[in-house]
Amino acid sequence: MHITVAPASPKTGQAAIRALLRDPSNPTVRGYYRDINRVPAEFKDDPRFEAVQGDVENAGTLDFSGSDAVLNITPPVYQDIDSVAHAHLVSENVKAAVKRAGSVKRLVLLSSIGAQYDHGTGEILTNHEAEVVLRDAAPEVVVVRASYFMENWASSLETLPSGFFFTTVTPVDRPLNMIAVRDIGATLAGELLATGGALPSNPHVFELRGPRDYSSLDVQKAFEEVTGRSIELRAVGRDELAGFYAAVFPPSVAARFTAMTESFLEGGVLYEDPRPTREKKYGTTELAEVLRELLNEA
Ligand SMILES: NC(=O)c1ccc[n+]([C@@H]2O[C@H](COP(=O)([O-])OP(=O)(O)OC[C@H]3O[C@@H](n4cnc5c(N)ncnc54)[C@H](OP(=O)(O)O)[C@@H]3O)[C@@H](O)[C@H]2O)c1
Repeated sequence: MHITVAPASPKTGQAAIRALLRDPSNPTVRGYYRDINRVPAEFKDDPRFEAVQGDVENAGTLDFSGSDAVLNITPPVYQDIDSVAHAHLVSENVKAAVKRAGSVKRLVLLSSIGAQYDHGTGEILTNHEAEVVLRDAAPEVVVVRASYFMENWASSLETLPSGFFFTTVTPVDRPLNMIAVRDIGATLAGELLATGGALPSNPHVFELRGPRDYSSLDVQKAFEEVTGRSIELRAVGRDELAGFYAAVFPPSVAARFTAMTESFLEGGVLYEDPRPTREKKYGTTELAEVLRELLNEA
């Protein structure tokens, strides 16, 4: 089986490639990098891995010929541009490359919880746009709607040495599902390797969740467990969100992240979730395991 990952740089793409290269069925994998110098050392010497220079923003740089399956990830954009228009462009480019190749039987799209909604979810509207464009891009389409990444807490590593971290998941005892990137990679790899197999529906859409929900208080406890010290939790309230994001992002990015966070809060679209994704699958990695790894890598 020959599998293409475009783009390959996102941490979920990297996790999927790692899982594919470890699989006993020995698939060959091609990864697209807009900057070829970003290929991780761990893949470089693997004879079943090929790194190719190409950018999903530029249709002409994508050649999926010979691939049985393609993994597509909508890259997040942190510039002051229309992110939904960007998601539309990169998804159309991937769709055209799949059609041009003629060999691709299955497209697997990494998406997000809440991508079924066309309003009220801020940044997640990029994932909605990708789902709309790609829903019929290949004979088989699988959409994996991941929950909140445990690795998002990497942003806390900067303040932890000072003994505190910020959370936008409030109230602080509110449970939220979180999934490890490693489990996302394993699931994406499994779906790619199942190319040609029967799908319960087409597109086959499911939500990918971690083994349990965690509140901000649980995150605090996990940080205390892995650091062995007392860590203060600083909650960012609903009316402080815009200022919190504006301090680190350009204006339109800050607005999208504020709207996305609000959608998780009481009264928001994702809090209410009136049209939940019916099928759910679960990872097994616990939050403390991921936080320990993040701290060790820092
Ligand atoms: N974070 C969450 O909680 C969450 C939850 C559910 C779903 N999601 C979705 O998961 C996806 C993000 O996954 P992730 O966290 O794995 O991403 P990530 O690690 O933040 O990926 C960002 C990388 O994508 C690459 N990239 C950006 N634009 C590119 C382009 N035009 N062409 C090629 N590569 C490009 C860049 O790598 P280089 O600089 O090396 O080129 C960049 O570092 C998004 O679609 C997001 O909406 C996220």
